[in-house]
Amino acid sequence: MPEFVKTGVEGLDSILNGGIVENAAVLVSGNPGTGKSILGMQYLYNGVEMFDEGGIYLTFEETADDISQAGQSIGFDRWDEFIEEGRIKIYDKRTLLRSGDFSDTLDTILGDLQNTKYDRLVLDSLTMFQLFFDDETEQRQYLLKFIDILKDSGLTSVLTMEQSAVFPDTEIGLENFLTDGNIYLIQSPAGSTSNRYIWVAKMRKQPIENSMFPLEIEEGGIQVYEQAAGFSMMGESPPGFGEESPGGGLE
Ligand SMILES: Nc1ncnc2c1ncn2[C@@H]1O[C@H](COP(=O)(O)OP(=O)(O)OP(=O)(O)O)[C@@H](O)[C@H]1O
Ligand SMILES: [Mg+2]
Repeated sequence: MPEFVKTGVEGLDSILNGGIVENAAVLVSGNPGTGKSILGMQYLYNGVEMFDEGGIYLTFEETADDISQAGQSIGFDRWDEFIEEGRIKIYDKRTLLRSGDFSDTLDTILGDLQNTKYDRLVLDSLTMFQLFFDDETEQRQYLLKFIDILKDSGLTSVLTMEQSAVFPDTEIGLENFLTDGNIYLIQSPAGSTSNRYIWVAKMRKQPIENSMFPLEIEEGGIQVYEQAAGFSMMGESPPGFGEESPGGGLE
């Protein structure tokens, strides 16, 4: 039996039937505003608070201050404390882009990761990370190397990606194949019922609930309602997708 790393996100660990398999690299995709960064932060925050597991947060999009403010706003009250204690380590936009040469920076980080005492890692986002490479071949080589190093270092990782998740138009990129798990966060421009969903599309080495489940972002972070009937991606639409469909959502 594989060991599981719990996200601590209510509902999500049960959809995953225990959590994320230890040492896996999981891609979390979605459009802007779907909650990718919050999910990443919550994974690290819960790691420290609930399971005494330290985490690394790599971001190309924000400064440590931005992240701290986002954390306060969502109710991760001890975020700054965990940073000060070194239980969450941030490589932010400033750190990552300080040196003119990105490949030097990357080598430094990869070196740090190889001797790391941390258990969890979040890269927010892979999309930005890939912009630093000139061509697709280089992107792929680095992605492969990066994922290898995460695994060799014993990290269980969440990599976010700007990627639409509206089946069947979802483009399946190489990133989806190279990672062990694919989770999509979905937001629809719906009316009165919940209009956020999560869909776990693949998790190597573990059984999953392969339906869409409602999700809410609120004080305290993300909650997944695994007891609400899951929506099949192939079958009926959840509320807010196409035609009005009666019931099935949250109040
Ligand atoms: N305190 C809060 N309470 C309720 N909802 C919140 C709160 N803070 C943020 N949100 C919601 O979370 C959304 C942003 O989530 P997040 O920043 O994780 O998205 P993202 O997928 O990372 O977006 P991007 O691709 O732009 O980085 C906001 O659009 C907002 O609707
Ligand atoms: Mg984000």
